[in-house]
Amino acid sequence: MATRAQQAKPDRIDRSVDSLLKLMTLEEKIGQLNLLTSDLDQTGASLRPQYRKDIEAGLVGAVFNAYGVGYVRKLQDIAVKQTRLKIPLLFGYDVIHGHKTIFPMPLAMAASWDMARIEGAQRIAATEAAAMGIDWTFAPMIDISRDPRWGRVMEGTGEDTYLGVQIAKAQVRGFQGRGLSDVTSVMACAKHYAAYGAAQAGRDYNTVDISERVLRDVYLPPFKAAADAGCATFMTAFNELDGVPATASQHLLKDILRREWGFKGFVVTDYTAITEMILHGYSVDSAQAGKQAILAGNDMDMQASIYQKTLPGLVRSKQVPESVINESAGRILRKKFELGLFADPYRRMDSARQSASLLTPAHRAAARDMAARSCVLLKNNGVLPIKSSVKKIAVIGPLADAQHDMIGAWSAAGDDITAISLLKGLKDNLKGIEITYLKGCDITSKNELQDKIDGGAAMALANDADLVILALGESKEQSGEASSRSTIKLPGAQQALLAYVKTIGKPIALVLFNGRPLDLSDIVDMPDAILEAWFPGTEAGNGVADVLMGTYNPAGKITLTFPRSVGQVPLFYNQKNTGRPLNDKEKYTSKYLDIPNTPLFPFGYGLSYTTFSYGAPAISKRELKMGDSLTVRVIVTNTGKTAGEEIVQFYVQDLVGSVTRPVIELKGFKKINLAPGQAQEVVFTLHEQDLRFYTQSMRFASEPGGFKASTGPNSADVQSVLFSLK
Ligand code: NOJ
Repeated sequence: MATRAQQAKPDRIDRSVDSLLKLMTLEEKIGQLNLLTSDLDQTGASLRPQYRKDIEAGLVGAVFNAYGVGYVRKLQDIAVKQTRLKIPLLFGYDVIHGHKTIFPMPLAMAASWDMARIEGAQRIAATEAAAMGIDWTFAPMIDISRDPRWGRVMEGTGEDTYLGVQIAKAQVRGFQGRGLSDVTSVMACAKHYAAYGAAQAGRDYNTVDISERVLRDVYLPPFKAAADAGCATFMTAFNELDGVPATASQHLLKDILRREWGFKGFVVTDYTAITEMILHGYSVDSAQAGKQAILAGNDMDMQASIYQKTLPGLVRSKQVPESVINESAGRILRKKFELGLFADPYRRMDSARQSASLLTPAHRAAARDMAARSCVLLKNNGVLPIKSSVKKIAVIGPLADAQHDMIGAWSAAGDDITAISLLKGLKDNLKGIEITYLKGCDITSKNELQDKIDGGAAMALANDADLVILALGESKEQSGEASSRSTIKLPGAQQALLAYVKTIGKPIALVLFNGRPLDLSDIVDMPDAILEAWFPGTEAGNGVADVLMGTYNPAGKITLTFPRSVGQVPLFYNQKNTGRPLNDKEKYTSKYLDIPNTPLFPFGYGLSYTTFSYGAPAISKRELKMGDSLTVRVIVTNTGKTAGEEIVQFYVQDLVGSVTRPVIELKGFKKINLAPGQAQEVVFTLHEQDLRFYTQSMRFASEPGGFKASTGPNSADVQSVLFSLK
């Protein structure tokens, strides 16, 4: 059924697009579907001679990996001065967590549960990118993933769908700001559609095989939310889904995205994904791959050049109707109009704005604030925040003075030399405290037997200090695309370094910099405090110093489970109960012989320098009717001595369904700020609609029966109240 948006009368832009399409040759229309990379990243501002020729001939619609006013102007000049129809190019780029001012990696920002600030971070990213000639970001990445081995978890929002939906919307709002016509806005691109995060065994690009129900209940809602929030474009995923590469999936692109959701923007493939359909074993050759991709509903071909090479012939031989090309080209041209590129193709290429917009003090301050808010305190016996009695700190570890790693993967245009290392942050901010430093060992090892550990020096430094701050974790290159790991322990000799320091007996605050939850089981008992700082971005050292000093009281909570062992993976909080849930007294129940079923740190977990107590939840009614709503109230009290923020979480369990339901599911959260001793009542409203899921007959509906509503500080520590739906 066509949505209201699809039935809408043609507007001014539709009419302009139609008249333009009438002037275009078939090759020029196909040209609009062609997205090519510049060689900026490899060779500086250059373009392969063939690409230049293709742009001149009107055979390229968009270019990515090109930014900087001077360079993009040169490329735009070719399009608007030398082509027959003077259609402007569109410039895309991976602006994932900041452009020049790099914010914490997205999974870290998710840990803030702070939608306004996540939106604000992407607004700044858009402002900087747009000031450098970029019209379009390949973000937000909103792939739900339950597998920390997958290197791309750092780019996403974590394992939860409800939170993923809120963060998807916030990011689209941030990137697109007041609308595409604004010069500080860039088009957003929801990626990777769909289920890329469910790659088998966490190995990047691997096969995905999940049920239609899991696809719809777990993986699709953030994409639907992005579409509803007006996200201008979607990117297909590399993976296959149920045997069909996502890039060729009519089910994903036509049935769901266009028909069910009424999406009106355009779809771009991922990098050379059309060519890869041959390797998937889905297409015999480029011509078949091109045909399958365009007929599935992919509008734009990223870097495969298959559309350019095959579509003219496919249309002439009547294998692909020209109307399909018109539709795709029309969607892309429409966005160029909405971005204001026909009115002024150079509107995001103003060198004065460029110089005024990048790495400004305000942007850096926002990045510092976000770096602190993304930290999750996993453990603390009181050693943090740093006490006034501490006069000398030994800062030890390969991540302590690691400017390069601080900005994390997918910080494409970020310059690591602008980043603040932890060591610098501590030196600049900790006045009157002596700081000594030792790297101790490398982050990773090529050959563990040859790892050089300065164990003796580390012990001596620790011995001479009141407090040791150990900075350990992963390198920037160990997460992100094509960076899956089969073990997720601390790499290299770092655990051994920690062991050396531990022998001295001085208090240890471990600061972790990494792109994924790590398996910390072997080391969790060794330090006095563990602060998960992720990759915090340009202002890493300052933001983390703020937390260590207590200038900012940490409030982040993890959005991806920390397992005890990689053997438990996939391990996620909203699991099913099974027919034989764990019972320690019974052999034949669902468990491992060697470790508990529980995670090391559950979804939603994170500590503060203060403590909070939760009252029992109170419910407004025990019986909910279809179409109605109820409220659940909980009183949260700051029982410590410091003011602090708390992310109060609200969960629901549907006790019995026509298909089995998760044991607990996030349905709401509120971040509150309480002074010492202060109590606040937090109110959650639950609508009957919030209880809907894909039933046995694949209807999206709620079912009458019993439910449990729970509140608490994390998914494993809740108090509950029962209600029923009539
Ligand atoms: C491949 C990645 O999967 C995608 O996320 C990215 O946007 C493109 N490369 C372009 O860099």
